[in-house]
Amino acid sequence: MKYFIKTFGCQMNVSDSERIRGVLEGLGFKVAQSPEEADVILLNTCTIREKPDQKVFSLLGELRKIKQKNGSIIGVCGCLAQRMGESLLHKAPEVDLMFSSFNIHSLEKLVKQAMAGYKAIEILEEPPEDEDKLWDIKPVRDGQVCAYVTVMKGCDKSCTYCVVPKTRGRQRSRSLESILKEVRELSQMGVREVHLLGQNVTAWGQDINMGFEELLRRVCEVEGIWRVRFTTGHPKDMTPEIARAMGELEKVCPHLHLPFQAGSDRILELMQRNYTREEYLSKIEMLREYVKGITFSTDVIVGFPSETEEDFGWTLEVLKEVEFEQVFSFKFSPRPETPAYDMPFEVPDEVKTSRMSRLLELQKSILEKISRYYLGTTQEILVEEYQDGKLIGRTPSNRWASFSGDKELVGKRVKIKVLKSSAYGLEGELI
Ligand code: 5AD
Ligand code: SF4
Repeated sequence: MKYFIKTFGCQMNVSDSERIRGVLEGLGFKVAQSPEEADVILLNTCTIREKPDQKVFSLLGELRKIKQKNGSIIGVCGCLAQRMGESLLHKAPEVDLMFSSFNIHSLEKLVKQAMAGYKAIEILEEPPEDEDKLWDIKPVRDGQVCAYVTVMKGCDKSCTYCVVPKTRGRQRSRSLESILKEVRELSQMGVREVHLLGQNVTAWGQDINMGFEELLRRVCEVEGIWRVRFTTGHPKDMTPEIARAMGELEKVCPHLHLPFQAGSDRILELMQRNYTREEYLSKIEMLREYVKGITFSTDVIVGFPSETEEDFGWTLEVLKEVEFEQVFSFKFSPRPETPAYDMPFEVPDEVKTSRMSRLLELQKSILEKISRYYLGTTQEILVEEYQDGKLIGRTPSNRWASFSGDKELVGKRVKIKVLKSSAYGLEGELI
């Protein structure tokens, strides 16, 4: 038996898919190279904006034909499944199998049910009591050097545009012991970089009377782990304690993804982000003080309801001020059942498009400027891959670099001298 899984959305979904693969491979399934070859086809979906929803429905249309031909089982899980529940079946009756973000551990039972010819649908409204069974599932990962480790689930913030608190539930921290056990196992398997994941990872521990900085310290104590990263932090929960730990712990990479979403205080308030532009910028300043050479990446929403030219101008100001290494920008997309869904003064799509292209243009010039800082420098790279005679890996500041070298260096730390640096990455030579 073979399975094919297509993952949409964020790293949390990637991490969930790794556990889903764990369940399926535990049942004896092998991975298929295409949906045509698979007995079970699973879509792990995202619903953060309208576009991912559309992508899922158009793919389901194609899969329907494959199912008619091969009799394959079609499953849908993840955030769209969670948001739509059984109503998804009205639009996509070909779906045989559905489960929530909360019950991946029920997959074994559900797959067996679907293979016996029954519809296997189990969408839970709330996380179940035995949710922690998820951590007993051994994930199947592709990479051998870097690994995602989910440390918390859900989100207690109430950003007015965001569907995540609905699809992923309240904030639940995974226990320290469970996280450390997984990190130790990864280290024994040869993993050298762990990336701690959560919708709001900086809030880890708030519900179990601990602080994220404590988690960082303990993960850094694991022998064999050289680098630690984490995503995503909310500016409000980015405390001086966390910043200090980042600066003190050599293994924590000096890079942070810290979404600011909008530069205008009026828009930030409508978004219920609970900070002002100045407060955001002072967090950046604090981090720069504690963490030598730290670089940042961010998320921005363009065209939130009622955003004026002046509001948008403040977003550009923040980009200029911080000089992010990477900016993920999105046109506002109204999500059903979120407070911003029917906020007045929708911004027309052509205005969103034009603002977006101005933002991208500005970011391109910033990237060209900051890329020059790397030229001629020596960088430590953790080699992740070997492709067509080139080694590929990242700097601690999260820039991709490629250079010639021996395949044996995959999984090792090397030093390179940077010979070329562009918006897309670095090229260098081993020293
Ligand atoms: N419309 C556009 N972008 C959104 N994001 C979240 N919700 C929406 C929405 N409704 C963006 C935010 C978030 C990133 C993962 O997606 O920038 O940080
Ligand atoms: Fe998409 Fe958000 Fe769900 Fe991630 S948590 S898959 S970004 S909706």
